Amino acid sequence: MAIQLVTTAAQLRAESARLLTEKRGTSQGLVPTMGALHEGHARLARTAVEQNDVVVASIFVNPLQFGEAVDLERYPRTLDADLALLDAQGVDLVFAPPVEEVYPGGEPMVRITSGALADKWEGASRPGHFDGALTVVAKLLHYGLPSAGEAAYRAYFGQKDAQQLTLVRRMVADLNFPVEVVAVPIVRSEDGLALSSRNRFLSAAEREAALVLSRALRLVEERANAHEPLDLDSARALVESQPLVALDYFEVVDPRTLEPLAENCRETPFRGEGLVLIAAKVGPVRLIDNVPLDS
Ligand code: PAF
Repeated sequence: MAIQLVTTAAQLRAESARLLTEKRGTSQGLVPTMGALHEGHARLARTAVEQNDVVVASIFVNPLQFGEAVDLERYPRTLDADLALLDAQGVDLVFAPPVEEVYPGGEPMVRITSGALADKWEGASRPGHFDGALTVVAKLLHYGLPSAGEAAYRAYFGQKDAQQLTLVRRMVADLNFPVEVVAVPIVRSEDGLALSSRNRFLSAAEREAALVLSRALRLVEERANAHEPLDLDSARALVESQPLVALDYFEVVDPRTLEPLAENCRETPFRGEGLVLIAAKVGPVRLIDNVPLDS
């Protein structure tokens, strides 16, 4: 394995600086993850490797973004497989710190406040989640900063966590972080299910039932592409007809503000940009998915 594993911020700084000098690199990419990696993460890593001379991936299960202690404990830890996957994509360095490295004094007193964009959708179901996620993303973006001040710096986030991506973009813009945020499209299995670390908790019947999420999104997408009114009600009814699926939300929103788009996209042909968001519990597992609209 060519990939290197470091566990402290000091090692990360030293090793990334060494690699940048050795490769005479002019760009550094950061791929923040919580591990339990799948093909969606592989695509993030591959994109970063294509676009940068040095690529660092972080693996850190961030306690601040979990509501229930049991969810944090249950989160899969698969370091060896994660390292192999990242190595196969050509990632140079993995930063996998223990909790005490990231939060040496226990939970931080000062955190990022994610504001109104986090009040709805995932934020409404998971209070405090986005403050915790943005706080660690801010720290990771600092840890991953290239030592050569003039080197380009990019960070890679999956489109699947659409609200997180919107919030990270806002944080970077509002607080002047010196990094370019790159969004990487969702990876789906052949039958349409969006890849997620949580899919491993679905039974075979639940996995089958979960396909209704991407089917409903596809219905709306097809309507938009055909410049027809978005028939959200039929798509919602399709999801609600599946007994193993408890729908939380299904909406077309503005991709920048995450506000629902005017009711009229139900009655008049859809034009412009939108983002269809869906979240549902399938058995015990909460799943999210989305599809961008641009017509
Ligand atoms: O999307 C994730 O995996 C996490 O929320 C992130 C961005 C690594 C922060 O912990």
